Amino acid sequence: MSENTPSAQVPTRSVPTRPVEFDAWLDDLPKHFAADSDIVRSHVLAVLSSVFPDGEDYFVRSVEAVRDRIEDPLLRRHVEGFVGQESMHGREHRVLNERLAELGYPTGAIGTYVRRLTAFRERFQNEKANLAVTAALEHYTATLAETLLTDPEARAEIGHDAVRDLLMWHALEESEHKAVAFDVYKKVGGTERMRVAMMWLVHLNFLLETSIWTMISLAMDPVARRHPLRVLRGVGRLRRSPFFSMRAVRQLFQYHRRGFHPNDRDTTELIAVWRAKLFGPDGKLTDLLAS
Ligand SMILES: [Fe+2]
Ligand SMILES: [Fe+2]
Repeated sequence: MSENTPSAQVPTRSVPTRPVEFDAWLDDLPKHFAADSDIVRSHVLAVLSSVFPDGEDYFVRSVEAVRDRIEDPLLRRHVEGFVGQESMHGREHRVLNERLAELGYPTGAIGTYVRRLTAFRERFQNEKANLAVTAALEHYTATLAETLLTDPEARAEIGHDAVRDLLMWHALEESEHKAVAFDVYKKVGGTERMRVAMMWLVHLNFLLETSIWTMISLAMDPVARRHPLRVLRGVGRLRRSPFFSMRAVRQLFQYHRRGFHPNDRDTTELIAVWRAKLFGPDGKLTDLLAS
């Protein structure tokens, strides 16, 4: 892992781009990399990682389509940071996904599915609708990120050190830019009605695609096929996971409230704590693997 951010002393609400590389740390990744070699959790995490690169490319395109119309200089700076951060997330998740593909996960097929789905959306939806989908999915990533940053149990579930560190870095930056797509959507005149309606579609789509791809991924795994009881136990554990807790679900559904804004949940303190933990006082990525 390497990082060379110019300065760690960034204002609380800023969206800095930090070039990081996880390649070398993923060489020893085992097939079932989640804690306790949990088969189901490993497949769920692999599915989520597979969705990110092409999904985040779509987020970037949605925001860039209206970038020239944003006059507010602060929001323009935030958009620049958002594009930088999402591009970097895509790059590092592609590295992880290539490694997962070598281990037999269907990351390539999932990437193709996401590319086709987003191309379909861009063909038939207007700019505001694409931004509404992006803002809704950004609330998903912000909710997952806050769970990861606040709950040690959630972090422990990830298992492999490099995957955990990659997701912690990603979670920190998702929290830093959680309001950017939302603010852009509002700036171009996106309505509350469309925002909430798109979130319902996103709920349906996310639930279906995550569970279907996890089932396909599990069906392709010879160990999962040989050990159905291990898979069933994994499903049971998944239901008790912090990512599926009532707290996370309530947070997700706050988005449906009229007048909701992502910064209603003040995460400035949480961001400050994790910036210091992950990037230290000199702005260099701390070697968390050793801690
Ligand atoms: Fe991201
Ligand atoms: Fe994001």
